[in-house]
Amino acid sequence: MKKVEIHSEAVERIKKFEVNDTNLGFGKYVAPIMIQASYEKGEWRNLSLLPYGPLQLDPCAKVLHYGQEIFEGMKVFRHPNDDIYMFRPEMNARRFNQSARRMAMPEVPEDMFLEACEVICAYSKHLVPKRLGESLYLRPFMIATEVGMGIKPSNQFLFLIVASPSGSYFSGGSVKVYIERQEIRCAPGGIGFAKTGGNYAASLNSYAKTIELGCDQTMWLDAIEHKYIEEMSGMNFFAVINGDLHTPALTDTILDGVTRRSVIAIAQGQNIKVVERKLSIDELIEASKSGKCSEAFVCGTAAVIAPVSQLMDSDKTVFHMPNPQGKLSMQLREQLVGIQAGRVDAPEGWLYKIREINF
Ligand SMILES: Cc1ncc(COP(=O)(O)O)c(C=O)c1O
Repeated sequence: MKKVEIHSEAVERIKKFEVNDTNLGFGKYVAPIMIQASYEKGEWRNLSLLPYGPLQLDPCAKVLHYGQEIFEGMKVFRHPNDDIYMFRPEMNARRFNQSARRMAMPEVPEDMFLEACEVICAYSKHLVPKRLGESLYLRPFMIATEVGMGIKPSNQFLFLIVASPSGSYFSGGSVKVYIERQEIRCAPGGIGFAKTGGNYAASLNSYAKTIELGCDQTMWLDAIEHKYIEEMSGMNFFAVINGDLHTPALTDTILDGVTRRSVIAIAQGQNIKVVERKLSIDELIEASKSGKCSEAFVCGTAAVIAPVSQLMDSDKTVFHMPNPQGKLSMQLREQLVGIQAGRVDAPEGWLYKIREINF
């Protein structure tokens, strides 16, 4: 396994860094250290913990023109005994490499990915917040650095990880969802299942509209019929219909969320039936009106689980969702947050303990 070389200036910087804010927000603070490794001639080199700082990139680096980049988002929690744990990081490592394969980028060996995450966490231990619902958010990412205007895969890359002590993503609790019926985010055979910047870039125009209309999240429909619910710009979707949990089945246009998988496992553990299938927006609206759908929620690493309070259609018609406080959503949320924070027993393998490093 590759060892992380620790730069002394990084250690000096992190030792002195503190965050004293009761409102951490999301991504407002960043630890003054970062992991970096470079890839060239077919191998990863110089895996290091460095002081956080700007990257020097040639203006012709391929990432700047052709968007060859991928990323992950994961969380680290402080338990009541002060030990710190990553939540299901192997799933992020595997998804990172799935994204890498689709984007013609080199894989980061799983043990290198996990070791790099563990080292930045261990050095940032004092930045892992204490309050329930807060965490240290890790952002591993990879960019194409080869210089050249030619449209072809890069053969040089940088792998980096930065860390941000964060609070909860939605301060309001529930979310208002805007149904995007015109634009699409990704098509079958495209890059929807990969966590790559292009998908998010494609969502931003609609995001601006979503916010302007007083909503929080854009709901994306399938690219072919503009009929079936796929996901939000940064979250997966669930609806409670006739007491069962329904969620769009995974396809190559949907991100395979770690939270989605965890919600499914927790629900099944509570004998709640989970149905993964095609779910049309018209069916959801009808089911909400008729009372068959008792609530809906979105889920993802950043937001955990948030109930949907209303849907807004493209013609600005608003459909109020039943149970906007989310009865089952909150039950599942409590269980998930409890597992992450070490208040509830975790299923085997869901928590990855960060080793103590004295520095
Ligand atoms: C497009 C998209 N869908 C779903 C999710 C939820 O995935 P996860 O639960 O792994 O954070 C995310 C967030 O990462 C996302 O960006």
